[in-house]
Amino acid sequence: MSRITIKTPEEIAKMRAASRITADILDSVTEIIKPGITTEHINTFVHNMMTARGAIPATLDYHGFPKSACTSLNDVICHGIPSSYDVLEAGDIINVDVTSIKNGYHGDSSRMYLVGGEEACSPEAVEVVRVAREALRAGIAEVKPGAHIGDIGAGIQEYIEGLDHPYGIVREYTGHGIGSEFHEPPQILHFGKRGKGPKIKAGMTFTIEPMINIGAPGTVLSKLDGWTVRTADGSLSAQWEHTLVVTEEGSEALTASELFS
Ligand code: MF3
Ligand code: CO
Ligand code: CO
Repeated sequence: MSRITIKTPEEIAKMRAASRITADILDSVTEIIKPGITTEHINTFVHNMMTARGAIPATLDYHGFPKSACTSLNDVICHGIPSSYDVLEAGDIINVDVTSIKNGYHGDSSRMYLVGGEEACSPEAVEVVRVAREALRAGIAEVKPGAHIGDIGAGIQEYIEGLDHPYGIVREYTGHGIGSEFHEPPQILHFGKRGKGPKIKAGMTFTIEPMINIGAPGTVLSKLDGWTVRTADGSLSAQWEHTLVVTEEGSEALTASELFS
């Protein structure tokens, strides 16, 4: 797919179904996250719940990715590979990123979890998790027909640059169009200038998924596994993601739930 597609109501219904499964899984992950479990356990839980709902994990074998979820711990920005060697400790922060395929359509979302609860985590860790969530909200607030795709990144950048702490916005990984394909046009930057990029139209579907570092924005890709992306300076990183459909009034987050709107 080389151009942005407008989804039909039937396609949007399929994306809503896939997104519901993803959101329900991420709601349930809340209950299993605790000190002592492994990221492999999270993967098994996600895989089993997804297949029980008749969906396919989009990440499994996607360009060779070996697991049914991404689990990105502390200084891991994204694409962390679940492992039986990675045991959660109180005070860790972790992103769990899940994409379900149902009837050929995708629903992609990720959230942060505070291991051991807010009391166990440093104030800085709690704050970067909150700021990344607000960054997603700032991006979503820009989405409406007639606005430009670049306004999304501009809204996120303006929010982050208005804060007292100089958080780093990751540049190398972006949001994306989504539908019958996992990653389609357009690319959604989490920084940039207003008025840039294609015009937003009702029926477009894409993700917004800002990655915010406590420190510098630079990234390092693991040479060992070819997937794990870490902050270059070792600082903590946080990310939240929704799959959206553009409506006449603005947008609807298809992967929203009561726990994460
Ligand atoms: N779910 C991720 C995203 O938000 C993509 C993961 S691709 C994988 O776009 F191969 F790393 F799983
Ligand atoms: Co994702
Ligand atoms: Co995504």
